Amino acid sequence: MSTISVTVNGRSYQNDVEPRTLLVHYLRDSLGLTGTHIGCDTSQCGACTVMLDGVSVKSCTLLAVQADGAKITTIEGLAQDGQFHPLQEGFWERHGLQCGFCTPGMIMSACDLLQQNSNPSEAEIRHALEGNLCRCTGYHNIVKSVQYAAAKMRGEQPEEVSTESVAQPA
Ligand code: FES
Ligand code: FES
Repeated sequence: MSTISVTVNGRSYQNDVEPRTLLVHYLRDSLGLTGTHIGCDTSQCGACTVMLDGVSVKSCTLLAVQADGAKITTIEGLAQDGQFHPLQEGFWERHGLQCGFCTPGMIMSACDLLQQNSNPSEAEIRHALEGNLCRCTGYHNIVKSVQYAAAKMRGEQPEEVSTESVAQPA
């Protein structure tokens, strides 16, 4: 066993982990942060994405011991004082999810994008989310959700959308 110290969503933890433990398993099984999902075993789906020292990573591609000393943010750490993060609000307002399985990873990847680019184009959003797979939405509303959040984070009113341009879940 190895002892690691991490800060997750602003809280400090010290735990003994097996050297083979993946970060995603540590977050879910040791810390109970099950908002970080596991959708594949090939590092392709992105459902496990978290922020590690300010950069989005697929937490199934790292060992927990590699995160020793890091600051991690998971989907559980985004809302502040009972208020949704603009991305969470955007996914709600623009119907960016259906089953919701991919959503935590989508949001964490979008967080990384919006901290680098406050006004991404549709193409830039699609490019940034290439590593996140969604089986349900067709991605259109996910792009709209990120655009909503980007506008909010710039202090602008998100563009009004007609019900035709936000595809409603079947
Ligand atoms: S669980 Fe699919 S990329 Fe990590
Ligand atoms: S909303 Fe179901 S996988 Fe994306």
